[in-house]
Amino acid sequence: MKAKHTTITLALSLWAVFTWAQPHLETTLTNGWQFSRGDGQWQSVTVPHDWAIDGPFDKKWDLQMVAIRENGEDVATEHSGRSGSLPWIGHGVYKTEFSVPAAYPNAELVFDGAMADAHVYVNGQLAGHWAYGYNAFRVDVTPYIHSDGSANKLEVRLENLEESNRWYPGAGLYRPVKLVMRASKDNHLDTWGLFVHTQRIDDGCAHVMISHQLADATRLPVDYELQVRVLDAQQKVMADLTTPCDGTGRFSCQVTLESNHLWSPENPYLYTVECTLFKDGRMIDRQCTKTGIRTVAFDRRQGFTLNGVPRKIKGVCLHHDLGPLGAAVNRTALIRQITMMKEMGADAIRTAHNMPSTMQMEICDSLGMMVMAESFDGWLEPKVRNGYGRLWDEWWQRDITNLVLNHRNHPSIIMWSVGNEIPEQWKPEGADRYKQLIALCHRLDPSRMVTCGMDNPDGTIWSGFAQTADVPGYNYRVHRYDEMIERLPQGFLLGSETSSTVSSRGVYHFPDTCMVNNQWTATDGQCSSYDVDYCWWSNLPDDDWRMQDDRPWTVGEFVWTGFDYLGEPTPYDAYWPSRSSYFGICDLAGLPKDRYWLYRSHWNTREHTIHLVPHWTWPGREGKVTPVYCYTDYPEAELFVNGRSQGRLRKDTTTRLDRYRLRWRDVKYEPGEVKVVTYDAEGNAAGEATMRTAGRPARLLLQPERDIIRADGNDLAYVTVSLVDKQGTLLPDADNQLEFSVKGPGRFKAACNGDATSLEPFTQPTMRLFHGQLVVLVQSTSQPGTVVLQVRDKRSRMKSTLKIKTVE
Ligand code: GAL
Repeated sequence: MKAKHTTITLALSLWAVFTWAQPHLETTLTNGWQFSRGDGQWQSVTVPHDWAIDGPFDKKWDLQMVAIRENGEDVATEHSGRSGSLPWIGHGVYKTEFSVPAAYPNAELVFDGAMADAHVYVNGQLAGHWAYGYNAFRVDVTPYIHSDGSANKLEVRLENLEESNRWYPGAGLYRPVKLVMRASKDNHLDTWGLFVHTQRIDDGCAHVMISHQLADATRLPVDYELQVRVLDAQQKVMADLTTPCDGTGRFSCQVTLESNHLWSPENPYLYTVECTLFKDGRMIDRQCTKTGIRTVAFDRRQGFTLNGVPRKIKGVCLHHDLGPLGAAVNRTALIRQITMMKEMGADAIRTAHNMPSTMQMEICDSLGMMVMAESFDGWLEPKVRNGYGRLWDEWWQRDITNLVLNHRNHPSIIMWSVGNEIPEQWKPEGADRYKQLIALCHRLDPSRMVTCGMDNPDGTIWSGFAQTADVPGYNYRVHRYDEMIERLPQGFLLGSETSSTVSSRGVYHFPDTCMVNNQWTATDGQCSSYDVDYCWWSNLPDDDWRMQDDRPWTVGEFVWTGFDYLGEPTPYDAYWPSRSSYFGICDLAGLPKDRYWLYRSHWNTREHTIHLVPHWTWPGREGKVTPVYCYTDYPEAELFVNGRSQGRLRKDTTTRLDRYRLRWRDVKYEPGEVKVVTYDAEGNAAGEATMRTAGRPARLLLQPERDIIRADGNDLAYVTVSLVDKQGTLLPDADNQLEFSVKGPGRFKAACNGDATSLEPFTQPTMRLFHGQLVVLVQSTSQPGTVVLQVRDKRSRMKSTLKIKTVE
C-alpha cells in the first residue's frame, strides 16, 4: 500500500514537472566562480565579490597629483587615500559555467552592477557590454547558449581606470548576477516591463495603475492577455483581472483597492503583484513583484507629503561600500545599516552618488526607509580625469533608463536624483542637460519628482538650472536658504546634502572650539568627537536643524554621511596614512560615534536619548578643563562630577551650539564619576546617565548584535569587541593587538576598528583595538550548528570566546 502510494506520488510529480513546468525560472549565480587579475593565477570565489578589499592598503594604488576643485584647490598637490588606497584599478576576469534546461529556450543574465566596463562572453562570444560600473544591466544570452541543456561558459572581463571616482568604487562582480530562463520560444514579459504606481488615494480607496510590456513588440499580433493579481501580505487575493495587449506590446489596467494598507517608514506594508502572460489562452510567462501603495508629493503649500501627510525628510547619504566588506553587497550588512539609521530616527537615505543595489532597495521597502535614488556624480564635464564625462554622450540615456526601469516599483523610492554638484550647473548647457534628464525620468516614471544636488546658488539661478528642478536641492548652502527661497519658483527647498561634520570615534581634541578643516591643528590624522569640526564648505548639524525647524518651506535634509566610507579622507587627503572618511555618523565598522546620539536626540521622537561626551578616563588631565556635553531630547539637565553640581543648563534657542546640545565647558577633570540628571519641560527629573573613570583592563567583552544567524553561507554575525575593566567600563584609549579564530560551521570574514589611518587589512584575523573597540564579522557556512569565536590578546594573555548559533 505504502509503495503504491509512493509510486503514484512520483508519477504525479513528474507529470507536474512536464506538464506544468514553470514558464519562468530564476537563479542567482553565486558559487563556482573563478577569478583572475589577468596574471594567469585563478582563485575560487563566490559572487558578490570585491577583488580589492583584501588589500593590502598602499599609498601607491591611488597617489594623485591633483587640485581637488570641489575642495576649492587651484594648484595640483600630492593627495593620497582618495579612493581608499586599495588595489581596485586594473583588469579582472571572472569565469563560471551555467546550464539552461532544454525546455527553456530563452535566457537572460541580469547583472545588478559590475565594476567596471563589463564585457560579457558566453561560449566565447561577446554577448553584452556595459560601461558604467554602478548600474544594473541585462544581457540576452539566448543566441549564445547551447540548446541541449549542456553547460555554457560565461566569462566577464572588467577594467577599472585610475582617477575615475572620488571615493572607493570597489572592483569586480560586487552585486548579484541572476540567470532568468523562460519556457516560451517567441515572446515573454520584459524583465523590467512592469510598472505599478499609486495614482491617488481618495476616501480610503487606492487607485493603482499597473502596466507591463512584452519583450518583443515586433512579434505581434497574436492573442496575448495578461492576468494581473494583487495579493496582500497574507497572500489573500485583493484584485484579479485580465487585460488585453494594446497592439504595441503593452498591457495596462487600473486596480482599485478599497481596503488597503499604505506603505510608510512606520508601516512598510507590501503587496505582491503577480502577472501571468497568456498567448492564445496558454500560459507562457509569469512574474511576481513586491510593491507598496503610497503617494508622494512636493509642493509649495505642504512641502513634502507622504500619503497626503506633510513630513520633513530626516535623511542620510550613504556611499555604497560596506566598510570591511568593500562594495560586495551583503543582505545582513545592509539590514544592519538601515536598522541602525532607523533606530537613530532617520527615515530616508540618499544613495550617493550612484544607482542603488536591488538588495538595498528591497530592504528599504521591507524595513521602511525612504530613498532618494541617485545616478551620477558628474555628467559631461569631469570632476576626475576618467569620470563619467568619457561615457556621457553614448551612455546617459541608457544609464538613466536602466536605473528607472529596474527600480521604479520600489515604494521606498520617493524621488530620483540625476546628479550631484554637476560642474556645468552654472551654464545654460547644464540646465539643458538637466531638462533632458528630467524629461527622460518622467517619461519612464511619471509618478516621481527629480532632483540634483546643487552647490552653486547664484550660478544655478543664472543658468536656469535651479528653476528646472522638480525638487530644488542645495548641498550645504544653509546660510543662503533664506535668500534662495525668494528666488526659487518652486517655493520649497531640500537640503540635498548637509552638515559634513567630521569626527573619529573616541577622539577628543582640546579645547572644544569649532574647527573649520582641522588639518592645521591636529597632527594625529583624526578629528574630534566634540562634533564641532567641519569643512569650510559645510556646517554643523545644528545649523541645518535650525533651518529645518524654523522654516516651513524646507522639506528636509540628507546628512553627509550615515556611515564612514572608504576613500575621501577629508580633511586628511594629503596626510598619509589616511584612507577613509571622517564624515560618518557611525564609523567604518558601523560603531556609533557620539554624533549618532546627537542626531538621535533630535530625530528619534519615540525614545529618549541621554548621552554624555567625552569619556571620563583622562590620566594626565587632572585639574584641566575638560568640557562635558550632553546629547538629549530633554530641554534641561544638571551635571555632577563626583557628586558636586556643575550647574543646571537649559537649551537656548537663541544660540548656535546650545539650542540642541547642553554644554558644560568649564568642567575640570578629576577621576571618578560624572552624572547627568535630565528634566522634562515641566521641570520634573526625568532621566539620568553616568560615566566612570576606567580602572585596570580586566576582560575582552564580546557583544554579538544577534546570537543566532542563518546557516546559509552568507549571513554574518557582527560582534563588537571592547576592552573593559572589572565594572565593565570601556578603556577608551586601548589599542591592544587582538587575534581572532573561528571554530565550527563558520568562518572569520573580516574585522574593522573604525580607524581611518589604520593600514591593517580587514580580512586578516588580527587587528588593533581603536579607542578600546573593534568589530569582528563571522560568516556562517551552509551547515547549522554552533560557531565559536575566540578573541585573544597575546601580550596580556586575555582571551574571550563567544558561541553563535547558526540555524537553517
Ligand atoms: C560634497 C560632495 C560629496 C562629498 C562631500 C564632502 O560636496 O557632494 O560627494 O565630497 O562634499 O564634504
